[in-house]
Amino acid sequence: MRNGIITGWGKCVPPAVLSNSDLETVTDTSDDWITTRTGIKERRISHVEMSDLSAIAAERAMAAAGVAAEDLDLILVATCSPDRLVPSASTIVQAKIGASNAAGMDLNAACSGFLFALSTADQMIKTGAMHTVLIVGAEKLSHWLDFSNRSTSVLFGDGAGAVIVQAADDQPDRGLLAFEIGSDGTAGDLLCVPASGTEGSADRTELPTFLMEGQEVFRRAVKSMGDASGRVLESAGLDLEDVDLLIPHQANVRIIDATARRLNLPPEKVYINIASYGNTSAATIPIAIVEALEDGKIQPGSVIVFAAFGAGFTWAAGAYRWGARVEALAVSDAELPPNDKTALELLAGNIAIHGTGV
Ligand code: ACO
Repeated sequence: MRNGIITGWGKCVPPAVLSNSDLETVTDTSDDWITTRTGIKERRISHVEMSDLSAIAAERAMAAAGVAAEDLDLILVATCSPDRLVPSASTIVQAKIGASNAAGMDLNAACSGFLFALSTADQMIKTGAMHTVLIVGAEKLSHWLDFSNRSTSVLFGDGAGAVIVQAADDQPDRGLLAFEIGSDGTAGDLLCVPASGTEGSADRTELPTFLMEGQEVFRRAVKSMGDASGRVLESAGLDLEDVDLLIPHQANVRIIDATARRLNLPPEKVYINIASYGNTSAATIPIAIVEALEDGKIQPGSVIVFAAFGAGFTWAAGAYRWGARVEALAVSDAELPPNDKTALELLAGNIAIHGTGV
């Protein structure tokens, strides 16, 4: 049986840090409110394009896997904040890393995008259609931050994570053992960025920003992530005791805690890094994979449950058994260009357009 195994991993987070105390200067909020209601202490703001973050994360993942750019036959970029709608982010990344033999396509399932892409790659590998796939989850959500709206502007950040998934014929019980992806488009207006595409183009007057019914998103996220995780475990023939680590989408620490309680998983089996990056949508899970490996929380054969929920609504879960290797084969020296601006300086354009909340 052919399986898709994650053999390389890399992240790229931009250097400029936007702290909760920075936010106190541009919107009516406090470090205490943000920390207790969301678990977020700081987030990163990018001085480069989302495709630049993606390309560096991809270079690092390729080095970790010992794979050259020409070896890739598919690039999947999960994002809802591409540099441009045309051409796709995946083709821009393809050009930046020189992956001349790869097909590229973007996948927008908002915060669930990485898991939609992982299941797509897995199925394409299982059918034999693809052999070596690069998946990038990347966002530049700072583009849409509106500090006159304190309920959304404190939540989001920028970043990218990438994995290489490779076909393996000799690891029958490894890789993605079971997955679920789902959507409910009737709830689309509860979390959206109106006019971020072509709608209403004849009479638009403002630049797009987030609209969100936070409490409804919260409720549905806990239920969807918890229930889907339970179902994939059942499909994989696993019990809760078999789970070594839950890596959930990082939207709000209270959502993560409630999901873990719904699943009856103890806190030490739940990976949380939201304090450092906020919600980076499709990038949260691949960044968390990299950091969980660095922290030694993933070992050869570890059983991991991935779970995500996002705009659409979309949700996804996967039961994944890690392969044999948890060390990178090599380390890439790829780096972002230097940045000499503070996070607030990088956000001056947002403030000029939307104003502040103070
Ligand atoms: N600072 C200070 N006060 C605030 C802030 C802020 N940044 N934002 C809202 N408040 C105030 C509100 O105005 C309200 O004040 P009031 O009682 O005087 O009217 C009070 O805090 C409570 O507001 P709620 O919206 O009820 O706060 P809640 O506890 O629901 O937390 C939050 C809001 C953090 C957005 C929460 O609902 C949430 O996390 N929802 C999930 C949404 C999410 O994570 N979205 C990210 C994208 S979707 C995804 O990735 C799953």
